[in-house]
Amino acid sequence: MARIESEVGTPQGGFMKWIDDRFPFTATMKYHVTEYYASKNFNFWYVFGVLSMFVLVMQFISGIFLTMNYKPDAAEAFASVEYIMRDVEWGWLIRYMHSTGASFMFIVVFLHMFRAMLYGSYRKPRELLWIIGMMIFFALMAEAFAGYLLPWGQMSYWGAQVIISLFGAIPFIGDALVEIIRGDYSISDITLNRFFALHVIVIPLALIALVFVHIVALHEVGSSNPDGIEIKNKKGPDGIPLDGVAFHPYHTAKDLVAIIIFLMFFSAVMFFAPDLGGYFLEHANFEPANMQVTPEHIAPIWYFTPFYAILRAVPNKLWGTILFAAAVMLPIFLPWLDRSRVSSIRYRGWIYKMALTLFVVSFISLGWLGMQPAEQIYVVWARIFAVMYFAFFLLMPYYTAIDKTKPVPDRVVYHG
Ligand code: HEM
Repeated sequence: MARIESEVGTPQGGFMKWIDDRFPFTATMKYHVTEYYASKNFNFWYVFGVLSMFVLVMQFISGIFLTMNYKPDAAEAFASVEYIMRDVEWGWLIRYMHSTGASFMFIVVFLHMFRAMLYGSYRKPRELLWIIGMMIFFALMAEAFAGYLLPWGQMSYWGAQVIISLFGAIPFIGDALVEIIRGDYSISDITLNRFFALHVIVIPLALIALVFVHIVALHEVGSSNPDGIEIKNKKGPDGIPLDGVAFHPYHTAKDLVAIIIFLMFFSAVMFFAPDLGGYFLEHANFEPANMQVTPEHIAPIWYFTPFYAILRAVPNKLWGTILFAAAVMLPIFLPWLDRSRVSSIRYRGWIYKMALTLFVVSFISLGWLGMQPAEQIYVVWARIFAVMYFAFFLLMPYYTAIDKTKPVPDRVVYHG
């Protein structure tokens, strides 16, 4: 790349110059870190992207150490996890870090996605960034699902049995597809082996690539802010957005505080309640997989239950599967469903505020209902909340268009 020395600010001579003459290190750091300008009024909701990245790295590191002692073999997997917990030095810590990390990953990612719904981060020009985010979300779900089979406990086995059998509802190709996923006529050692390959190689590689393009797309369009104003449109004579501050050191300092606070919550769970009463590690999974004994009550782990409740709310298996898939995929279309004149919730009218509140209520309620036994009363409530969930998306073009909005200020609102 042809560069003018003064333009990239390369120090005269020395090691950095040697590097910069061969690799655009200083220029890259400037573009993505020290001269990436993000709005000065970021709030609480803007820390969850960095926290997602932090948890992802933590999962990779703890996962690598787990792999050193785990055995992907149906005859040995359960015992190897017990061996890690009891005999491997610090093994219990590594295992709990990884299992707690999985739940915290979904907590921070759900909050990260919710931020986008609060401030319209998915809207033009960030549609592609949002779609890449949704692809990350699908990959995370697949990663968590594959990982959950590995301890080869009762819930690993029966949870996988229920979810994989869903594909069987697809007309014509269903049965063949189920066989391809399992690699066998039932869930077996072969399934465990392929899920291991997916969990430790295929999906992590896809996640790294997706997070990389997520950040590239973000830095191309720039971050939004709680006012939903494009700070790039108001630049000073130096070409720097008037409402922007450099990512480093200003946002990095704030993000570091967020990481420290996050670690307090994370450590509290990891050290004092790693199974969180059965929500983060289900009790049935402390028993080895037994294909002759079905657990009394099969429920997926908490982050899948909102979607699982929708699946169970429908009496027909094919339609249940279709609505399950639709519930997971609908958010992709948010950039085109939202027809409001403003982006941020600060300037939207009461209709959107009410719709978003009902959406949150329906999502949390479905999550709770998905953990309950499939009794009639829970199924009826799941139907009501499923209708609310879908209505939020499907009626959006209508209610966002008629909602009365407030005037958006010229510059971002910031009280120092
Ligand atoms: C491993 C998972 C993920 C990582 C590491 C990650 C990382 C990040 C980071 C570091 C940022 C910039 C800081 C911020 O705005 O919070 C960001 C922004 C963003 N992410 Fe993610 N993300 C992940 C998943 C997702 C998912 C699942 C979605 C949505 C489906 C998503 C949508 C967005 C959007 C729309 C922005 C731009 C926000 C704005 O400027 O207002 N991300 N992401």
